[in-house]
Amino acid sequence: MRGRREYKWLAQYYDQFFTFHLPWFEAARNCVLGRILPSVKSACDLACGTGTTAALLAGTGITMYAVDSSSVMCRLTREKAARLGVPLRVRRADMRDFRLPEPVDLILCEFDALNHVPEKADLARVGAAVARSLRPGGYFYFDVNNLLAFEKIWPGTWWMEKPGVALVLHGGFDAERGRGWSRAEWFIQKDDCWKRHHERVEQVAWTETEIRSTLLKAGFDRVRKFDATPFFVGDQGIRPGCRTFYLARRSARAED
Ligand SMILES: C[S@@+](CC[C@H](N)C(=O)[O-])C[C@H]1O[C@@H](n2cnc3c(N)ncnc32)[C@H](O)[C@@H]1O
Repeated sequence: MRGRREYKWLAQYYDQFFTFHLPWFEAARNCVLGRILPSVKSACDLACGTGTTAALLAGTGITMYAVDSSSVMCRLTREKAARLGVPLRVRRADMRDFRLPEPVDLILCEFDALNHVPEKADLARVGAAVARSLRPGGYFYFDVNNLLAFEKIWPGTWWMEKPGVALVLHGGFDAERGRGWSRAEWFIQKDDCWKRHHERVEQVAWTETEIRSTLLKAGFDRVRKFDATPFFVGDQGIRPGCRTFYLARRSARAED
């Protein structure tokens, strides 16, 4: 997604096509946040998608916010929360300037959502917005696709099919612009007729140095990283360096 462009078909069919990653992300969350979660009273799932993580955490008694810039994603998140009977405060907002009514203990931003911002410079805006929404000593947990993933994994074609809908994903890496891109071609059946829809997603690549220095400037005082490979059991494509999970702590001194 670039600029204001938002997920549409990807949102509508997200829970049908994108569930393969859930066990991997649960493994990463359990490992990285295992010790922190028991003391978390309030949290926000930033770029929440269809709200799977937000609903899961809300079900454990955490006061939970969910933020996404896509209106379809927000609607699906509200519907999921209602279906599961969990309280979830869903807000449509951009991760570069979102605000919460109260500072929370934890902000999560999973499944490389942070790579989705349009410009490299946007990382600083996200860092500032996240820091403002965390209580001093609160945590920011996120994962990113690294350059290696754009170079080695993104170029390729994938075909996925469900009853009445087929998806072809074709991706690549634009080295000059430092961006991974993915074209989604949808084939959706209505009665006897198949309609084709097109969607394009772009992601920005950052180095670890850029991430660390941005977070330190935004008021985080401790940044830990975890390579994703051990969590992604059975993923044939991933290798060390492709994806990193980060845990950053907002400085415990409120004035930082
Ligand atoms: C790959 S999905 C990840 C969704 C979810 N976190 C998950 O784990 O399944 C990326 C999400 O980021 C959202 N997004 C993209 N750019 C955004 C922005 N600038 N502000 C807020 N959300 C954004 C998209 O609408 C989409 O729901």
